[in-house]
Amino acid sequence: MTQLTDRPDRYGLVTRMLHWGMAALFAAQFLSAWAHWALPRGNDLRGMLWSYHTDLGMTLFLLVLLRGAWGLANMRHRPSETGLAGQAAVAGHLALYALMVVVPLVRIVAAAGGTRGFSYLGMPIFAARETEIAWTQAVAEWHGEMGWLLALLVLGHIAVAVLWHRVVRHDDVLSRMA
Ligand code: HEM
Ligand code: HEM
Repeated sequence: MTQLTDRPDRYGLVTRMLHWGMAALFAAQFLSAWAHWALPRGNDLRGMLWSYHTDLGMTLFLLVLLRGAWGLANMRHRPSETGLAGQAAVAGHLALYALMVVVPLVRIVAAAGGTRGFSYLGMPIFAARETEIAWTQAVAEWHGEMGWLLALLVLGHIAVAVLWHRVVRHDDVLSRMA
C-alpha cells in the first residue's frame, strides 16, 4: 500500500504531492513574475500571465503552511543526512521555507493595510481602507527582490538535487522524493 507519511528511507505520498505540486505552481508563479518584469504594459501575454499572480500567490502561501505543518509532524521519521552536507541541506531547506512564507506574506500584509481591498478567488478578504497603514506598504517594497532571491535559491536547489546527487554522487536522494 502507498505510504502516506514520511519514512527515514523515503518521503511519503503527501510530502511528494506537496513538493511536486508546489514546484509546478511555483514555475507558473515565476513565469507570471517574469512577464511582469520583462514585457511591456498592454501586452496580451503579460496581461494573461499576470492575471493569476495574486490568487496563485495566496494559494502557494496556504499550501506552504500546510506543508510546513506536515513536515513538522513527520520530522522524527523523515530522510536525513549527517555531517556537514546534512547541515547544509537543512539550512538550504529552511531558507526555502522562510522565503516561501515571507515573499507572499509581505504582499498579503500590504493588501490588508492598503486602500484597494483584497479578494481571493473572488471572495472578499480585506475591505478597502480609507487611508493606508504606511508600514504595511514599506515591508512589501522588498517583495519582488525576495521573490527573485527565492527563484535563485530554487535553481541552486535543483542543481544540487540533479547535478550533485544524481550525476556526481549517484546516491538515492532524488529517488526518495521521486
Ligand atoms: C510565493 C508567492 C509569490 C511569489 C514567488 C511572487 C513573486 C514575485 C516576483 C518575483 C515579483 C517581481 C516581478 C517584477 O520584477 O516585475 C512579484 C511582483 C509582485 N507581486 Fe508577487 N509573488 C508571490 C505572491 C504574491 C501575492 C500573494 C501577491 C498579492 C497579494 C503578490 C503581488 C505582487 C505585486 C502587486 C507585484 C508587483 C509589485 C512588486 O514588485 O512588489 N505576489 N512577485
Ligand atoms: C525540478 C525541480 C526540483 C527538484 C528536482 C527537487 C528535488 C528535491 C529533492 C531530491 C529533495 C529531497 C532532498 C533531501 O531529502 O535532502 C527535495 C526536497 C525539498 N525541496 Fe525540492 N526539488 C525541486 C523543486 C523544488 C521547488 C520549486 C521548491 C520550493 C520552491 C523545493 C523545495 C524543497 C524543500 C523545502 C525540500 C525539503 C523537503 C520538504 O519539506 O518538502 N523544491 N527537492
